[in-house]
Amino acid sequence: MNVLVAVAVRAERWRDAFAARLPAARLHLWPGDAPAEVDYALVWKPDGEAFRQVEVRRAIFNLGAGVDALLAVPSLPQGVPIVRLEDAGMAVQMAEYAVFEVLRAYRDVGHYMRAQQEGRWAPLARRDPASFGVGILGAGVLAQAVAAALAPFRFPIATWSRSAHARPGVESFAGRGRLPAFLARSRVVIGLLPSTRDTRGLLDAAAFAAMPAGAHVVNLGRGDLVVDADLLAALDAGHLAHATLDVFGDEPLSPGHAFWHHPKVTITPHVSAVTDLGETVAQVAAKIEALERGEPISGIVDRARGY
Ligand SMILES: NC(=O)c1ccc[n+]([C@@H]2O[C@H](COP(=O)([O-])OP(=O)(O)OC[C@H]3O[C@@H](n4cnc5c(N)ncnc54)[C@H](OP(=O)(O)O)[C@@H]3O)[C@@H](O)[C@H]2O)c1
Repeated sequence: MNVLVAVAVRAERWRDAFAARLPAARLHLWPGDAPAEVDYALVWKPDGEAFRQVEVRRAIFNLGAGVDALLAVPSLPQGVPIVRLEDAGMAVQMAEYAVFEVLRAYRDVGHYMRAQQEGRWAPLARRDPASFGVGILGAGVLAQAVAAALAPFRFPIATWSRSAHARPGVESFAGRGRLPAFLARSRVVIGLLPSTRDTRGLLDAAAFAAMPAGAHVVNLGRGDLVVDADLLAALDAGHLAHATLDVFGDEPLSPGHAFWHHPKVTITPHVSAVTDLGETVAQVAAKIEALERGEPISGIVDRARGY
């Protein structure tokens, strides 16, 4: 079995880890030692030349959960299944980040930090968790992990997705028509959607206006979900309390972007959930072995939907 590794960074580490886990496979690095044909390609943001020069016969494994960058590669071969990561160590990281941000909003941490800076003793009334709705845009692998991690805090939790998802303790909103109602009940809106033609620009002026006054936005999925100018306008108008952004339309965020020094914006550099090499290798290798045995696997991307 021939396997191509086409990743932009730490390529040798990936090759060596897969070689150790798949001893019967011959691993090849792109560029450098690639044959004309391989059974599997393991890729992360590959340059399109790899697909022009190497034919992939069985499957392309994306070494990340989001496939927007891969689907945008013009030379990506048609008819070969694309497989994405499912959790692979990222769900617990997303849960950590999201719980931290929800509790920051619920416990008025911003208010108390400002009060301390001003030397003010300024206690606020305790919030009722039952009236502090948390809404997660997405109901997939990562969104479900976030919903489960938030369960102990007794907030009403809802997800929004294309299709309805019945989960105990989580209200499911499905489809565009239900988006305004979902946003209206959410004091914190957490973005965990893929970037597709249907989700780009979803969080625009109308969406922010549908959120309750004082709402917080936490975007962890893909940056182009948010219309930056509309978010800044909603923050500056005082309608939204805060935005925490881990992902951006253009990364790295340009040095002059208004988000950097905005008092109501917190930025992290796309680190909410990073790829775990060990768990990724274990998951991808197990799927290759399943395919070799003729068994079905999960995580195959629907190219028409874009995720
Ligand atoms: N910031 C980071 O470090 C980081 C790390 C990993 C992943 N991510 C991002 O997180 C995203 C989610 O990952 P995941 O593993 O949870 O993906 P997933 O399991 O594929 O879930 C995607 C969810 O989005 C929903 N969705 C897609 N298009 C929609 C639309 N047009 N309207 C409503 N809902 C829509 C899906 O609805 P259905 O359930 O109805 O299909 C599904 O619930 C990835 O695509 C990636 O971009 C970011």
